[in-house]
Amino acid sequence: MAANSEKSGLETFRLFSTSDEKIQLSLGFLDSSETHLPPPPPCVEVLPSEVSSSVKYTVEPVNFGGLTLLKGRVSTQDVFRLSNSDLVPGKYEGGLKLWEGSLDLVKAIRSEVQDGQLSFTGKRVLELGCGHGLPGVFACLKGAAVIHFQDFNAEVLQSLTIPNVNANLIKNTQPSATNVTERNTGTGTEVRFFAGDWSEIHHLLPLVYDNKKDLNGHPEPNPSLGYDVVLMAETVYSISTLQNLYELIIKCMNRPHGVVYMAAKKHYFGVGGGTRRFLSVVEKDGILAANLVAEVADGSSNVREVWKLSLK
Ligand SMILES: C[S@@+](CC[C@H](N)C(=O)[O-])C[C@H]1O[C@@H](n2cnc3c(N)ncnc32)[C@H](O)[C@@H]1O
Repeated sequence: MAANSEKSGLETFRLFSTSDEKIQLSLGFLDSSETHLPPPPPCVEVLPSEVSSSVKYTVEPVNFGGLTLLKGRVSTQDVFRLSNSDLVPGKYEGGLKLWEGSLDLVKAIRSEVQDGQLSFTGKRVLELGCGHGLPGVFACLKGAAVIHFQDFNAEVLQSLTIPNVNANLIKNTQPSATNVTERNTGTGTEVRFFAGDWSEIHHLLPLVYDNKKDLNGHPEPNPSLGYDVVLMAETVYSISTLQNLYELIIKCMNRPHGVVYMAAKKHYFGVGGGTRRFLSVVEKDGILAANLVAEVADGSSNVREVWKLSLK
């Protein structure tokens, strides 16, 4: 659990991490529990062919000590008509920006793979709150059989996640492939995209346990249900969503082998969420064990962590 002082050198998003709390509050970064939110957008599956052609998209390489992923960039103004807004609770939840935690997560799962602690080969993977989807792309490149990406906003999937998946996976597919086709990258991986709120998205995600009987009491292990690996970066900033997020991952994890890798800040100033707050929800329920995989104290934000959750 050594502190990682490596700096990414990338422009990443640092919400609620420094002393600019006043600015954040004046921009409307309030905990959504304190506001009256509009109803969430409907849950929908977004097909790869629904990729947005109207927004400007640029691609930059992101280097992880030899591993290169491509990071897209689109503007919140183009997609949501929001200038300078990092997050508007209930409308736009920050998916267009690359947060530091997603890079921490890629680094952590990469070293887990190198150390033999994790394999994606043939695995069913879900990335929650994906934004750019770099951790999910990494899982795909490492041989996942299924990768499902989820974001609050369909617009994020259409204008950022799908182009980013295309940019990273096309060079690894057949020369004839020009795009991620419906549900298939050409590498044999099933790739699908889902938009919607964590309180409702279980109705749409294909592999969840949605039956209380499956989850309570003595569930029969069902190898055909659940994701083997759930990835999520910077999803635990808002206290008001932690319970829904926890309940969702419980429905999503394969029993008994499913694991969750969560990267986030230990604490988000101004809104009160963070890894420790989320882990208090986990601990209260008593079903999952939590292990710290990495701690990042590089001075660019308050301390960030990567945790692994598994069924006890
Ligand atoms: C701060 S962004 C992080 C994006 C990306 N994981 C990264 O690290 O760059 C938070 C992500 O969680 C998703 N999200 C936040 N609240 C949500 C909710 N209530 N339901 C579904 N998704 C939500 C957002 O759409 C967004 O993708």
